[in-house]
Amino acid sequence: MTVDEIRAHHLPTLLRRIPKAELHLHIEGSLEPELIFKLAARNGVTLPYPSVEALRAAYAFSDLQSFLDIYYAGASVLLKEEDFFDMAWAYFERAAADNVVHAEIFFDPQTHTDRGVPIEAVILGLSHACRRAHAEFGLSASLILCFLRHLSEDAALTALTQALPYREHFIGVGLDSSERGHPPEKFARVFSKARDLGLRLVAHAGEEGPPAYIESALDVLKVERIDHGVRCLESPALVQRLAATRMPLTVCPLSNVKLCVFKSLAAHNLPALLDAGLCVTINSDDPAYFGGYINQNFVETFAALPQLTAAHARQMAANSFEASFVPAERKAVWLRELDAVIAGAA
Ligand code: ADE
Ligand code: ZN
Repeated sequence: MTVDEIRAHHLPTLLRRIPKAELHLHIEGSLEPELIFKLAARNGVTLPYPSVEALRAAYAFSDLQSFLDIYYAGASVLLKEEDFFDMAWAYFERAAADNVVHAEIFFDPQTHTDRGVPIEAVILGLSHACRRAHAEFGLSASLILCFLRHLSEDAALTALTQALPYREHFIGVGLDSSERGHPPEKFARVFSKARDLGLRLVAHAGEEGPPAYIESALDVLKVERIDHGVRCLESPALVQRLAATRMPLTVCPLSNVKLCVFKSLAAHNLPALLDAGLCVTINSDDPAYFGGYINQNFVETFAALPQLTAAHARQMAANSFEASFVPAERKAVWLRELDAVIAGAA
């Protein structure tokens, strides 16, 4: 079957089945309320919520900051290496079930080291889970260390220095947390240092912040992917540049609705981003907080936007491989697997 012959009613099955790469996933955002309570009990941490249900009920956000406040509180139960392993392993089990074949995962060391957790516990716990995901599921996974942009650049430089003894356990650096008022150029020196160390570079930009933040992420930080980037459409010149350079945008539709970037999935600008020829991927951001993992993002987004077809699904899965930080030969293998799944689709 060719991709154009796949009808709308077969789309949800196809969306779930296709192999895909996850490129925008904060591992702390995969911490489900049940695991938060389990780790709190194991570590003797008292939570400001009486139950799993009460915590989940608090997941009603008005913007990015209202989410981040609760997200950092949730991460307070993570203390030991095994906690980081358990969190990441729970994510990999779900990702493998969603046919994720490759994941490049964000972690926020400052959220933990500022509470006295040794960076070694963070990195080794996560890295151990990555290795096991590859061994058990054939899912390749790597780590991207994110700097918290609401903190200073000196604090980011300290985080990078602390992480360097574990350099072989992560492939790149990113920039996350509160975007407004914290432009990429604030982190020029630490990104330049990371670049000199051979690390791959990404940054959140254009989620809540203006198109100018996407431009400075490219021009000053020299990033190789933009996380979110949905506000690029406000600048036609920027869209043209992103399309011409095939700069990937790691879009997270359910996140964008939960954080009120768009009022609904039906109002999301994903079709316009695709029409502009951009290298768009679909990702889950903080799935425990935003209502679903990567397949849920695919299925709900396609259901809400009927102009999206199987050809778009193939394009975005292919984009996720193209945008990943792996050798070209690996990308070619995944592309062949993607086309074999589509050819076999009923
Ligand atoms: N940290 C976790 N999720 C984030 C998001 N969507 N934007 C910025 N920082 C984040
Ligand atoms: Zn994010």
